[in-house]
Amino acid sequence: MTSTAQARARRRDRRVYLRSHPLLFGLLAATRGRAARRIGGTVLVHDAAAYREALTGIPLDRTAAGTTGGAAREALRGAGGVLFDQEGGGHRAGRRSLAEGLGAAGVEELRALWRPLLLRGVAPLGRGAEVDVVALARELAGSVAAALLGRAAGPLVLAEAASAAAAASVRGHLPGPPRPGAAAGTARAAERLRGVLGGGDALDAMVAVAAVNTTVAAVPRAVAWCADAGLWGQAADAGLRPRLAQELLRVTAASPVLPRVAAGAGSVGGCPVRGGDRLLLVARHAAGAHRRDPDGRDPAGAGVARLVFGAGPHVCPGARLATVLLEDVLEALAGYRPVVGRCRVDRRAALPGWRVLTVRAAS
Ligand code: HEM
Repeated sequence: MTSTAQARARRRDRRVYLRSHPLLFGLLAATRGRAARRIGGTVLVHDAAAYREALTGIPLDRTAAGTTGGAAREALRGAGGVLFDQEGGGHRAGRRSLAEGLGAAGVEELRALWRPLLLRGVAPLGRGAEVDVVALARELAGSVAAALLGRAAGPLVLAEAASAAAAASVRGHLPGPPRPGAAAGTARAAERLRGVLGGGDALDAMVAVAAVNTTVAAVPRAVAWCADAGLWGQAADAGLRPRLAQELLRVTAASPVLPRVAAGAGSVGGCPVRGGDRLLLVARHAAGAHRRDPDGRDPAGAGVARLVFGAGPHVCPGARLATVLLEDVLEALAGYRPVVGRCRVDRRAALPGWRVLTVRAAS
């Protein structure tokens, strides 16, 4: 691994932000010099301690418009809450309902399902053919979400419906004049997702959206970084692989910005916060993704890497699943030492990522 190779990996990865959200990326980069900075009614939060403070020490309005909770609640209207928008007992009950499937034993069960899919998915590399890692990630994510929710939905149809539901919801919340038909588009996409799942409550749809969109964004970006930076040696090493996976999830920060709203007063990174203030919590900067390259031999440490999964009572319940899945993807690919072929950014996706990213075995 050389710094030139890491620079090449970083350059390619930046394209997913620059092609999909150039203004936001520019604003965040320009303001990251301070732990937290107020611009009008918005507080931008960049550093690790301030990010943790915001997620654990400030009362948050979980249902406010423009927050993850508010958007999910509006898009997936139906019976029950969607975790992101909940507090207290209802929230704890929702988390408990997921704990079994996403705990160590649950993930081992899901692993038995995805390993054969993965081996079949990478097999064309052995014949000198290309593999599209985005298509592979969609199949894995759709299969995992269907199994987790106990649904018979086809993996690719479910992945497509979950991506479309998230993309429609994001389009409906873009800054600027209201877009005609945006609300109807969001409702149609959510209805289709529910249809694919065969009914169920809003939480099921939310879990499918959260699992599919993050996996489809994170896995191809991590694989591209690993290939471009020449990290397949670490990926092949069973001792280093878990730390490498954690590092790749840290630098790709699949959910790079968490939009939240303060419900009461407090202080974040020395910046006073009032009730009603908008908080843009930059997970990507909190985890040091912009300044420290990924290295399984010299990792940033779990405490920092974990920040890409949030913090506090709403911390991502799918973190173990996402990490183990990426470890298995890296292991399945490592023997081929793949290089990246074609890639195209997905400009419509809810999270920055690739629409196509092919790899082939190094000759
Ligand atoms: C690279 C992969 C992933 C990343 C980066 C990620 C990131 C996040 C983040 C930042 C949050 C918000 C945490 C907070 O507010 O403190 C979250 C919440 C959540 N994630 Fe993930 N996630 C990933 C994968 C998954 C997967 C595979 C699932 C599968 C079930 C999942 C399910 C959820 C759910 C249900 C919540 C809401 C939790 C709550 O509000 O209590 N995530 N995730």
